[in-house]
Amino acid sequence: MKNIYSNIYSFNQKILVKTIKSLKQGNIVSLPTETVYGLAGNAYSNKAVKKIFKMKKRPKINPLIIHYFSSKNICDDVILNRNFKKLYRKFCPGPITFILKKSKNSKVCSLATANLKTVAVRFPKNQIIRKILKFSRFPLAMPSANISSGLSPVDVLDVFDEFKKKIKIIINGGKSKIGIESTVVDLTGRPKILRPGIIGINEIKKVIKIDFSKKKVKIKSPGMLKKHYSPGIPVIMNKKPENSKHAYIVFGKKDKIKNNYFNLSKKANLKEAASNLYKTMRKIKKMGYKKIFVAKIPKNGLGLAINDRLLRASK
Ligand code: TXA
Ligand code: MG
Repeated sequence: MKNIYSNIYSFNQKILVKTIKSLKQGNIVSLPTETVYGLAGNAYSNKAVKKIFKMKKRPKINPLIIHYFSSKNICDDVILNRNFKKLYRKFCPGPITFILKKSKNSKVCSLATANLKTVAVRFPKNQIIRKILKFSRFPLAMPSANISSGLSPVDVLDVFDEFKKKIKIIINGGKSKIGIESTVVDLTGRPKILRPGIIGINEIKKVIKIDFSKKKVKIKSPGMLKKHYSPGIPVIMNKKPENSKHAYIVFGKKDKIKNNYFNLSKKANLKEAASNLYKTMRKIKKMGYKKIFVAKIPKNGLGLAINDRLLRASK
C-alpha cells in the first residue's frame, strides 16, 4: 500500500542534510517550533520567499518573521538596541518575536518584510529547528504553516491537511508544546506588544518599559488587522449555543458536559487551554459543526493571548 504521508519525516542526521540541501535550492519545507509549525524558506532568497506567499495565499502586505539561530547571526540584517539585548538575554531562545529596524545592508529580501523598514526576528527554542538553523548559512522566513487567515497547525497532520503533498518535506517534531504563536514586541520606538503570547506583558514589563498607550499609531502589523486564526466557520464569543447542533468550547470544571461541549482544560489551566485551542477548533470543524460558541475564558496571563486569537477568529 502506498504511504500517503510519504512527505512526513522523523528527524535524524539524514533528514537534516536533506532539509538543508532542499532549503539551499530555494524550496519550502515545514518545520516544528515550540509555538506552532512553520513554512520555512531561505529569507535571503526572493525566489523562496515568493513561494511561501504563493503557497499560503498570503497578502503581500503581510511581512514574515525571520528565524535565526542566535543574536550573533542578525547583526548585518537589523540594528540592535538595548531593549532587544535585555529581552534576548532573558527570553531567548524562546517564543518571542522582536520588530527591529532593518539595516542598510540587510540581506533579508524586501518581499519577506513587505517593503517595510523593519524586520521581525525570532530565535525559536525547539531543538529540531535549532539544528537546522545552526547548519544552514541563511535565516529562515517562516510564517505558520497554514493557508492565510486560517488556524495555525500544531502537528504534522494539521500541516498535511493544509498542504497535502505540495510540501516535499514536513518534519515531525510531535505536538507543538505551546500551541499558539509567539509574542510579538515592537522595539523600533517605545516598546509595544503587537501580539500577545505565552511570554506575557507582566514578564516583559519586568525587563523593559512598555508603552501601553492606546494612541493611534501607524499600522505596524498589517496582517494583524484582518480576520485571522479562523477555523472556517463562525465563532461566537462569550455565549452559550441555543441547541446541540452548535459546538460549545468551555474552560474549567463544568457540571453538565454534553456531546457538543469541548473542554480546553478541565483543570482550568491556561497553558493547557492554549495548547488545545487550535486542535479543538480544527476537530469541531471536521466533525461537521456549522458554528462554534465559546464560554468566557479569563483574560489574565496567557488568557489574554487566547482571547486575542478567539476575538480575531470571530471577526
Ligand atoms: O510563533 C510564531 O511566531 C510562528 C512560528 C512558525 O515561528 N510564526 C508566525 O508567523 O506566527 P506568522 O507569519 O503567522 O505571523 C507573523 C506576524 C504577522 O501578524 C505579521 O504581520 C507580523 O508577525 N510581522 C512580521 N513582520 C513584521 C514587521 N516587520 N512589523 C510588524 N509586524 C510584523
Ligand atoms: Mg500565521
